[in-house]
Amino acid sequence: MTTVGFIGSGALGSAIARLAVEAGHQVVLSNSRGPETLADTAAELGPRAYAATSGEAAAGGDIVVVTVPVKAFPYVPAAPLAGKTVIDTCNYGPERDGHIPELDSKSLTSSELLLRYIPDAMLVKAFNNIFFKHLLSLARPAGAADRSYLPIAGDSATAKAAVTEFIESLGYSVVDAGALADSWRQATGTPVWGTPYGPFSNEKGQPVGEDAIRAALATATR
Ligand SMILES: NC(=O)c1ccc[n+]([C@@H]2O[C@H](COP(=O)([O-])OP(=O)(O)OC[C@H]3O[C@@H](n4cnc5c(N)ncnc54)[C@H](OP(=O)(O)O)[C@@H]3O)[C@@H](O)[C@H]2O)c1
Repeated sequence: MTTVGFIGSGALGSAIARLAVEAGHQVVLSNSRGPETLADTAAELGPRAYAATSGEAAAGGDIVVVTVPVKAFPYVPAAPLAGKTVIDTCNYGPERDGHIPELDSKSLTSSELLLRYIPDAMLVKAFNNIFFKHLLSLARPAGAADRSYLPIAGDSATAKAAVTEFIESLGYSVVDAGALADSWRQATGTPVWGTPYGPFSNEKGQPVGEDAIRAALATATR
């Protein structure tokens, strides 16, 4: 069992937390408004879930999932994340986040921007390319013929191994998509983002195998 801290517990954070609890992990939820606003969500997830401040969620997690709007990156607590495996699910959208010059110019990936705020974390990009409803509905046990794949990108082999083990426990397999600097290949609007798992209008989604994920990553253009 792993304790998974969540910085952000909205649509995607809650979905990952649900799969994590179902897989036997403990989860610590947090958001910007305080733990009392997550009491219902934590209660619904059951005894393996509780709500805390974002600092406590960062400190308490063996793995910590940052799942917030990119404009909230400056508020992610850096000190408790030093040396930890951290998953970045976040996608940049100027309509929500405002314009960020390094992301508009594509001189940085959004994960590299996050790393500037949490420089001592071991950051892995994951889950950013799948709609949260598809994530919930496409989870399958290991060995299932229709198990889906998710790309991960990061600079630490240790952190990638930990994230792979975590994702596999949730019901997915992974494709190694390279370093954080390569994570633009799975960013918003790329071939691997969203569409392989089916249209948002079909909440069930469709399973996506390893070859399809590798092919989609390979055809991305910046
Ligand atoms: N939804 C999806 O299907 C999906 C799929 C792939 C990737 N993503 C990406 O994943 C990220 C999260 O998406 P979402 O759909 O879950 O967003 P969401 O439903 O709007 O939830 C955002 C969460 O972040 C929290 N938050 C905001 N500022 C914070 C701060 N300073 N400290 C701690 N928590 C903070 C919010 O808390 P409050 O409500 O208290 O402000 C909320 O819990 C985004 O970058 C999004 O682009 C989403």
